[in-house]
Amino acid sequence: MAFVYPDAIVSTAGHVDHGKTQTTYALSGVWVMRHSEEIKKAMTIKLGYTQIGIYDCGEEYYYSDGILQNGKCPNGAEPKLIRRISLLDVPGHEVLVATMVSGAAVVDGALLVVDASQPAPQPQTVEHFAVLDIIGVRHMVVAQNKIDLVTKEKALENYEQIKNFLKGTWAEKAKVVPISALHRVNIDALVTYLAKEIPKREAELGKPALFSVLRSFNVNPPGTAPDKLRGGVLGGTLLRGVLRVGDEIELRPGLKVDKPKPGYQPIYTKVLSIEYSGQKVEEARPGGLVGIMTGLDPALTKADALAGAVVGKPGTLPPVWTAVEVETRPIPRALAEKIEPFKQNEVVLLAVGPATVFGVVQAVKKDAITVALKKAVCAEQGSKVVVIRQVKNRWIVTNYGTLKG
Ligand code: GTP
Ligand code: MG
Ligand code: MG
Repeated sequence: MAFVYPDAIVSTAGHVDHGKTQTTYALSGVWVMRHSEEIKKAMTIKLGYTQIGIYDCGEEYYYSDGILQNGKCPNGAEPKLIRRISLLDVPGHEVLVATMVSGAAVVDGALLVVDASQPAPQPQTVEHFAVLDIIGVRHMVVAQNKIDLVTKEKALENYEQIKNFLKGTWAEKAKVVPISALHRVNIDALVTYLAKEIPKREAELGKPALFSVLRSFNVNPPGTAPDKLRGGVLGGTLLRGVLRVGDEIELRPGLKVDKPKPGYQPIYTKVLSIEYSGQKVEEARPGGLVGIMTGLDPALTKADALAGAVVGKPGTLPPVWTAVEVETRPIPRALAEKIEPFKQNEVVLLAVGPATVFGVVQAVKKDAITVALKKAVCAEQGSKVVVIRQVKNRWIVTNYGTLKG
């Protein structure tokens, strides 16, 4: 059977420990936290990703891979694949909001996970929703999780708090689905609303390929013999166009060089293989999260070293910026802290699409700042930029705008 491509990316969102990774697991059957530090601390640090199939079993609600039983419908019927979507699991911890922003930049919809046993909204529920809002995500399903921990009265009270929080926003009518991710209760209803509410990404197959790198890896175990080394792997998503095995590609901003003059040198390489969660294919398409093995030296791709870069056919990529001017609109529902005006020489963190870079404020205007970047970014003029500032020793999302050039 021909491979059914994932057609959309859904990102988790929500406060730390509310169950984003557990919900991803319930939906997919895949535990996306693999990093040793993540397992030790029981918290998501990096972006995790996987794909789910959504299946019709001839019942009221759809099923997903995580709740099929040995690949079969619980009623014995043969599952009929409706669509595939990619899940991107983001960290909830407040210090990792930049990672959440970089993930949110490429998604088609969100799965907001709210712990029913706590008053809603909690701080990162507010912050993540603000990020989705300013980035322009407009499709969301709410999982009211840990329903096993509360009485019916408490659940209803929490439901009202969620509805109240979303009132007056684009997500006012978002479905709120009570679940227990841990006990896999009502996951079929959650799958069904995801399938219905998250639209398919417009594929734009005819346009020049533009691939956003979210993660990059060295997949070789330590001590691999040089002749057995596998090339550097880029994990991310195609925003438009297609990439095929064998394609020559360019990666920008590329390598920082001092000669002949200080700047960045694009990297040229080849696509060696393409994989969707273990499924090898000949072609990557827009809409899902995909791993691309390249001819790059794996030392270049290890530990997310190329995260935030973009890839395309040589000569087709957007410009590279080492300084940017960005508008500084305050985010709509200001987070608790009072925000001071920007200061010259202040260090800020900018998320330009999925790239997050530190920079130093060079000039402050009424509603824009000019920032010298510590690391270049490759992005179209007019790209969305999220400004993250240090306020009382915490990094919080404070402003947003577009890249003015
Ligand atoms: P961060 O990645 O650190 O932001 O957390 P997270 O939102 O991914 O939460 P995670 O899935 O790691 O779950 C946090 C804790 O809540 C774990 O101990 C889970 O076992 C527990 N948990 C998740 N879902 C449920 C649920 O439905 N019921 C109960 N009782 N516990 C749950
Ligand atoms: Mg946790
Ligand atoms: Mg997590």
